[in-house]
Amino acid sequence: EIHIVTDAAEGAQAVADVFARTLRETAADGTVLGLATGSSPVPAYTELIRRHREERLSFAGVQAFLLDEYVGLPPGHEQSYHRFIRENFTSHVDIEDAAVHSPDGAAADPAAEAADYDRRIGEAGGVDLQILGIGSNGHIAFNEPGSSLASRTRVVGLTRRTIADNARFFENAEDVPVRALSQGLGTIREARRIVLTATGEGKAEAVAQLAEGAISARWPATSLQLHPDVTVVVDEAAASRL
Ligand code: GLP
Repeated sequence: EIHIVTDAAEGAQAVADVFARTLRETAADGTVLGLATGSSPVPAYTELIRRHREERLSFAGVQAFLLDEYVGLPPGHEQSYHRFIRENFTSHVDIEDAAVHSPDGAAADPAAEAADYDRRIGEAGGVDLQILGIGSNGHIAFNEPGSSLASRTRVVGLTRRTIADNARFFENAEDVPVRALSQGLGTIREARRIVLTATGEGKAEAVAQLAEGAISARWPATSLQLHPDVTVVVDEAAASRL
C-alpha cells in the first residue's frame, strides 16, 4: 500500500496510525516493535511521543529491537544508533530502557554478536511492526546493494555513498564507521508488518525501484515486494518517479 502525502506532518500521522493499530492488535501478547534510525522516521517518532503525552497512547510492555548499529561504537556513544533511538523516541515514552535492544557495536566478536542478536529477536516472538527508512541507493537497515535477499543479521561493510550520506551526523567524514551490524533482508522480512517512510527527491529512484523494480539484490529494498503487509509513506518528491 502506497500513501503519497503532501508534507512530513501528514506522513508522520500516517506512520503513527500504523503504530497505533499494531499496538491495539498486539498489546495483549506484548508488542515487539522494530525501530529504525536515520532522519526519515523522526517526525513519526515525534508524533508518537505527542500521542503518548496528549492521547495516552501507551507503550507499556513493548519490546523494541533496533535494525542496526555501527561496529566500534558502544551503546552510549554519541553517534551510536542506540543513543539516537533513546534520544529521539524511547526515553520520551513508557518503553523501559532495558526493553530497547540493539546489536552491541563494541562486542569483542561482532559476528557472534550478530548471530546472537538475530536469535534474540526470534526469542522475543518476532517483530510485530518494523519501521524502515531507505538509503538513496535502495539499502534498508545497512543491507547495501549486493546483500543476499535471504541474509540474516551480520557484519556488513558500508558503501562510499552511504558513508558520504551519513557523514553529516559526524564531525569528519573519516569518523564515520566503515562497518556495521545489520539485520539481514531475510530477518527484516520476518516482521509481520512493515512501514517504510521516505521524503525528498534524493529517494525517488530508490522508491521507484522498491515499488516497481525487478526484485534484485542490486536494489535491496525490492525484497520487500515479497512481503504481504508493507505500507509505504512518501512525499510527492520521493514519489516523483513512480
Ligand atoms: C542509514 C540507516 C538506514 C536509514 C538510512 C536513511 O543508512 N542505516 O536504516 O534508512 O540511513 O537515512 P535517512 O532517513 O536519514 O535518509
